[in-house]
Amino acid sequence: MERHIYLDFNATTPLRDEVREVMADALAVYGNASSMHRSGREARAQVEEARRAVAALIGAQRAEEVIFTSGGSESNNTVFETMRDITTRKGNDNRNDNRTEIITTAVEHPCVLNSAKYFKELGYKVTFLPVDETGKIKMDNYRAALNDKTLLVSVMMANNEIGTIEDIAEIARLAKSAGALMHTDAVQAVGKIPVDVEALGVDYLTMSCHKIYGPKGIGALYKREGAPLSPLIHGGHQEDGLRAGTYNNLGIIGFGEAARLAKRDLAEYGRTMRELRDRLRDGLLAAVPNIKVNGHPVDMLPNTLNVSFPGAEGESILLSLDLEGIEASTGSACASGSLDPSHVLMAIGVWPELAHGSIRFSLGHGVTQDDIDYVLEKTPPIIARLRAMSTVRAPLCRDATCTICKE
Ligand SMILES: Cc1ncc(COP(=O)(O)O)c(C=O)c1O
Repeated sequence: MERHIYLDFNATTPLRDEVREVMADALAVYGNASSMHRSGREARAQVEEARRAVAALIGAQRAEEVIFTSGGSESNNTVFETMRDITTRKGNDNRNDNRTEIITTAVEHPCVLNSAKYFKELGYKVTFLPVDETGKIKMDNYRAALNDKTLLVSVMMANNEIGTIEDIAEIARLAKSAGALMHTDAVQAVGKIPVDVEALGVDYLTMSCHKIYGPKGIGALYKREGAPLSPLIHGGHQEDGLRAGTYNNLGIIGFGEAARLAKRDLAEYGRTMRELRDRLRDGLLAAVPNIKVNGHPVDMLPNTLNVSFPGAEGESILLSLDLEGIEASTGSACASGSLDPSHVLMAIGVWPELAHGSIRFSLGHGVTQDDIDYVLEKTPPIIARLRAMSTVRAPLCRDATCTICKE
């Protein structure tokens, strides 16, 4: 039988069976969740049940702190739009009056990075914090950038390309002590590692349902009670006037079920993914000479493995793997098609030739040891063949003292 091994779960995940079933039943619920009559009330009850499940997944104390959006990109943009509103309508929120500066990182997802770049074009002072070779922000740079003009600190919780997990609790503590608002894009963290908004101390946290085995086109923004928020989409009174538009009942119901399952299975997921990922990493290190694993050695998403294969070109590796029924990626799905090397790999000091030869394997529910062994059987000859054909010889780094690169 032809093999099909999907290892691109950071790009998106399939619907879990339970989510599909709940959504199939929900197709019959047609009421507008804002309507007062019975059909509306039924639909609304399902929306609110889903909201409670999403709030429980992230430890929010009040379900009302969860606002449904169309996904991670919208949630992140809403936070930035709020900052614009605060600065252009001074007096709206005295606490943040006269604060105009934004701090973010060089390794954010494009929907934060490009929002921040847009703010820079608008004339805001925006600091893009550099990261070290493991992908963590440099705390000294962060402390130096924070000041009494800082309005917002936006640092992703876990990186989509390399899986590095940031110390959001400490970053938030410093942000709060400087009087700034704190946002984290936790799209890749939620459902993979414990996320507790109370322990993190953030004002805003972004989630996306299609990363946790739910449908696409639905996500949420956690907003701490009392934190300012301006709508990105103006219109009706849905979501307390913070996000207009008829409720996406079907998506929201799917999100609720996906969140419930993610919370239930979190510990088991972490154990299983770590075991499989480590098997893949160790197997590749043993079977393919001269490769580099990117990311943090410990603070890593359990399902993510980003590997640089010097002397082989990423797109060719992907196509060869695809011919064997193995689906991985060269980086984030949002950047695919771009000829530029990954901004995340560049930020951690991987130089362009090597960044072009890097593959992200992201694992998820349903992947088995047998699948990993199949990948371990097929990948080494692919890399050997591509290296033999390649005219590019990319050493791992330019550091003459580096011990990994001696070969
Ligand atoms: C870290 C991160 N933030 C935001 C997004 C965007 O989420 P959505 O696809 O729901 O807009 C993604 C999706 O790849 C992501 O990985």
